[in-house]
Amino acid sequence: MTERFQPSTGPVWHRVCDGPELTGSQCREFVIADTPGFAFRHQGQVYAFINRCPHLGIELNWLPDRFFDREQTFIQCSTHGALFLPQTGHCVAGPCAGEHLTALPVREQNGVVEVQVSPD
Ligand code: FES
Repeated sequence: MTERFQPSTGPVWHRVCDGPELTGSQCREFVIADTPGFAFRHQGQVYAFINRCPHLGIELNWLPDRFFDREQTFIQCSTHGALFLPQTGHCVAGPCAGEHLTALPVREQNGVVEVQVSPD
């Protein structure tokens, strides 16, 4: 009997940028499958979140690729100033304190940063 193999339907990784582009607090915005997101490196690790504030559901930033507060400590929503931990997306101050950003699966492989975005 001949074995039949199904084509892989595993998760798809989408390229965001080259890894060395993410230095300091430099972020990279992207839109994949109509989902806006951003990626950055924090303490050597790459993170990615959907660009949507849990307070009003709008995008966090006013300026391209700018997501961090002045001290480069927290992700900051530019509309009402909510502050989010970069490691988890948890909101620690502002009108949506206790809520969190939506993290995306992210990896850095062969010098390229890639994310997975699930269609809603
Ligand atoms: S919309 Fe982000 S804090 Fe209000």
